Amino acid sequence: MTNKAFLIKTFGCQMNDRDSEIMAQLLGEAGYIETSEMEQADLIILNTCSIRAKAEQKVMSLLGVLRKHKKRKPHLKICVAGCVAQQEGQEIIRRMNHVDLVIGTQSIYQIVDLLDNLNDHSVATGLEDDYIIPSFIPNLKPKGKNSDSPEVFRKFLTIMQGCNNYCSYCVVPYTRGREISRTVNDIIEEAHALVDAGVQEITLLGQNVNSYGQTNAVTESPQNYTFADLLREVAQIDGLKRLRFTTSNPKDLSDDLMSCFAEIDILCKQFHLPVQSGSNNVLSAMHRKYTRELYLEKVAALRKYCPEIALTTDVIVGFPGETDEDFEQTMSLLEEVQYHGSYSFKYSDRPGTRSQHFENKVAEEVKAKRLARFQSRQDEITMLHNRNYVGNVYPVMIERNEAEKMVARTASNLLVHFSDLSSCNVAGDIVPALITHAGQHSLQGELHQKKD
Ligand code: SAH
Ligand code: SF4
Ligand code: F3S
Repeated sequence: MTNKAFLIKTFGCQMNDRDSEIMAQLLGEAGYIETSEMEQADLIILNTCSIRAKAEQKVMSLLGVLRKHKKRKPHLKICVAGCVAQQEGQEIIRRMNHVDLVIGTQSIYQIVDLLDNLNDHSVATGLEDDYIIPSFIPNLKPKGKNSDSPEVFRKFLTIMQGCNNYCSYCVVPYTRGREISRTVNDIIEEAHALVDAGVQEITLLGQNVNSYGQTNAVTESPQNYTFADLLREVAQIDGLKRLRFTTSNPKDLSDDLMSCFAEIDILCKQFHLPVQSGSNNVLSAMHRKYTRELYLEKVAALRKYCPEIALTTDVIVGFPGETDEDFEQTMSLLEEVQYHGSYSFKYSDRPGTRSQHFENKVAEEVKAKRLARFQSRQDEITMLHNRNYVGNVYPVMIERNEAEKMVARTASNLLVHFSDLSSCNVAGDIVPALITHAGQHSLQGELHQKKD
């Protein structure tokens, strides 16, 4: 099975992005070659997401296209990985005889073996409660040799898998399994490998990083080691310029973690703190285990530690039973918090979740209206925040410096478009940017020349 070409298409969240990188590395080490052309691929992997019905439909329609493609190219192998694979794997294999392998979220490290030993339609979707995430060292090109890989300055590092929260609408506990933390040693070793290879910015990943180490598996680490401890330890790594993390459940947000924003220089002053709803009735039905009041207290405390922190959130509109008054509570929370940005979604029924069986489902038109109202008010607030950048100077990290695209990113996570980067500025450099113009989704700026 050497020198076969593979293509991975990734859907969903950053965890899936990272899992795709891991599968690509393992396949590369086994002699496969990555391609971005479907026509050239001997193996196509869909790394799928099932968070909302729409995400799953996308995968199913792509599988339809691949069925025709395989008719023209019978030796093509098709593999479905990720959250849809985990939940619907048996069904996919039963209904779609052009799919050769279904590989669940805890089986990605076995991808090469599974492909080597393909039976007629293999399924690997075991989900173990005592799963141990294997040690894995990313294989990046060493410093200086990464010019063909512009993204190498910025990487994700998965610190935990799964989720124990069982919010009533969410598939993640079923698709990713119980919450399992990696050992501190593994994480630090991976972070060192990244920085040694020239990575300047690391984002620590987990569904609820705030509860890192609380449940299990941090075996070789000190007792009561917390996520804040981990942040401090990663931040010590020489050569790392920026540190971020995502994502957090407000119920587990500790004072100690908040204080990291005042304490750790390289920790970017941005926080994604999903609220989901501003109504206590809805929060309770969602099983989020915090109230609007507690959430607002946490936001106030966070702003005390770090007044300039850029806050973003996730919101679901039209959860079963959400009344007009409940939705107004979400709108008023938006007014109170004044988020820099948000991801908002219409509630979507998902298989296996409790809310799927709730009564009082909200009509599609009502959901659409609420979503449009929320998003249009959020856009106005985002624009006000973005205008505040104009005329000021911020350190930004360069992401691309090519004639047709010169972009950098603020610590608050906004893109800045340039027209005047010098050719000696490379991806990963931090330069001062004078912001000249604010758009809805990004800023424009120029290199700030210091006057002596
Ligand atoms: N772990 C994160 C969220 C991960 S899922 C947290 O606890 O906040 C990303 C987002 O998808 C969620 O924050 C939620 O807003 C949205 N989402 C999850 N399930 C959904 C559903 N059934 N319908 C609509 N949106 C959903
Ligand atoms: Fe899903 Fe809730 Fe876990 Fe987030 S905390 S992944 S929304 S169950
Ligand atoms: Fe989607 Fe799975 Fe991520 S459902 S959002 S890919 S954890």
